[in-house]
Amino acid sequence: MQTYVIVGVGGRSLMFKEALADLFKDSSKLLAVCDKNPGRLELARKELSKAYPNLKLYNHNDFEKMLAEHKPDTVIVCSMDSTHHDYICRSLYAGCNVITEKPMTIDAGKCQQIIDAVKKTGKKVRVTFNYRYAPPRSQVKELLNSGIIGKILSVEFQYLLDTNHGADYFRRWHRNKANSGGLLVHKATHHFDLVNWWIGSTPQSVAAMGARLFYTPKQAERYGLASHGERCTDCPVSKKCNFYLNMNAWPTMRELYVDCEKYDGYFRDRCVFSDQIDIEDSMNIVVRYQSGAILSYCLNAFCSWEGYRLAVNGTKGRLEHTCQETSYVNGDGSVQGALKPEGTTIRIYPHFKTPYNVPVRSGAGGHGGGDIEMLKDIFGQPRPDPLRRSADYVQGAYSILTGIAANKSMAENQIVRIEELVSGLPKSVFPQMPGEDERIEYVPDGRLLIGGQESNVQANVPQKLTETLGSGK
Ligand SMILES: NC(=O)c1ccc[n+]([C@@H]2O[C@H](COP(=O)([O-])OP(=O)(O)OC[C@H]3O[C@@H](n4cnc5c(N)ncnc54)[C@H](O)[C@@H]3O)[C@@H](O)[C@H]2O)c1
Repeated sequence: MQTYVIVGVGGRSLMFKEALADLFKDSSKLLAVCDKNPGRLELARKELSKAYPNLKLYNHNDFEKMLAEHKPDTVIVCSMDSTHHDYICRSLYAGCNVITEKPMTIDAGKCQQIIDAVKKTGKKVRVTFNYRYAPPRSQVKELLNSGIIGKILSVEFQYLLDTNHGADYFRRWHRNKANSGGLLVHKATHHFDLVNWWIGSTPQSVAAMGARLFYTPKQAERYGLASHGERCTDCPVSKKCNFYLNMNAWPTMRELYVDCEKYDGYFRDRCVFSDQIDIEDSMNIVVRYQSGAILSYCLNAFCSWEGYRLAVNGTKGRLEHTCQETSYVNGDGSVQGALKPEGTTIRIYPHFKTPYNVPVRSGAGGHGGGDIEMLKDIFGQPRPDPLRRSADYVQGAYSILTGIAANKSMAENQIVRIEELVSGLPKSVFPQMPGEDERIEYVPDGRLLIGGQESNVQANVPQKLTETLGSGK
């Protein structure tokens, strides 16, 4: 039986609480929870009362006391981003392993503290990259590892957050870099992790530009909302604002945030057009990888649909993957980031051959089906992990260092090298990527197909792609 405590019992902790109270209860035990908001602690007690009638609650000032009294095997860190490093390091020094929500932390100094703490203690940190586990994203990894487009040379990745989910980052604590590192860290940690993992390499240097272009006082004026209040609650123009959030409309949101405001004064519904916001909503970056590949990435947080477009270019062709997701706001009770099957495609464009679609694997539940697959990996019976989907602190670090470098690049108007940011970070271990020395065959009449002939034929994809996966040897 593995034992756990959770620090941070806000919206995201629900996934872990449910897993520990239900599906994985036979092998995993929750001993205590910790938060700085006593209202949310009581709520956690209520939610878990059936599975854990004796659950202990701790104020954040009593974190060490909690560890000393319960001696958990693992601490699950689910608090605000800027507090992660502190809880991770204190847990490691107390002899515990850590499972942390993304981003592992938000700046280079805090990242260094984690690297040093892992080295000194020999304990483990796992970062919960649920995106890797969503079936279509794992499928992209399998395809790339099968060598279907050869050695990867470049990546184009556009991420779109819509005016519902995207706007929500500008209402909550995420709207200030001191709390979240900005969207290039808080959100794009998922995306940079996917790219690192998909192409089996780590970032080397980063150039970035970004700005807040949409969630601004000027945009409020354009909408005729210049007289908006500080928050949606009691806002004088809420009736004509498409961004109005009624927190009382959903029981979970009311209980988690409205009912808990009195304890810490945290308002979850601040105005998205406020001049207090200091994160970007439009960002473009270029990254050179150790493998030589180059990534061009952009993130916009005010789009009309939610999801992403990916294209990966290799020595033998191009893989395109589009993914549309359902829109949600944290606490509205809906499934977070579910895939829209009709908007999710994978298509291969081989050089000199006919392009074709690959039937996409579907996944149900939170984050494209990634949440449940990841939970099985964390709390379930050990199982093979040929794609190496489980991420340690090294991969957690590389996933944030791109965004941290991008923040520095934007502030100083220069290209930033990752090695300047932290020291002592080991190499990342990925399945071996194909194609470096592969001989590519001449395709008779192949030039006739350039620019070309389209086919809706469902793929002639190798049946057993997993057999062709590199095993990291
Ligand atoms: N992997 C994913 O898909 C995913 C999705 C949502 C959130 N997250 C991550 O989960 C974490 C929590 O996000 P959330 O949406 O639950 O936010 P939230 O605001 O709902 O909850 C954050 C909790 O942290 C607590 N907290 C703040 N400062 C603290 C401190 N110093 N000590 C102890 N507790 C403190 C707050 O009181 C609150 O209960 C974030 O790091 C976020 O990035 C990950």
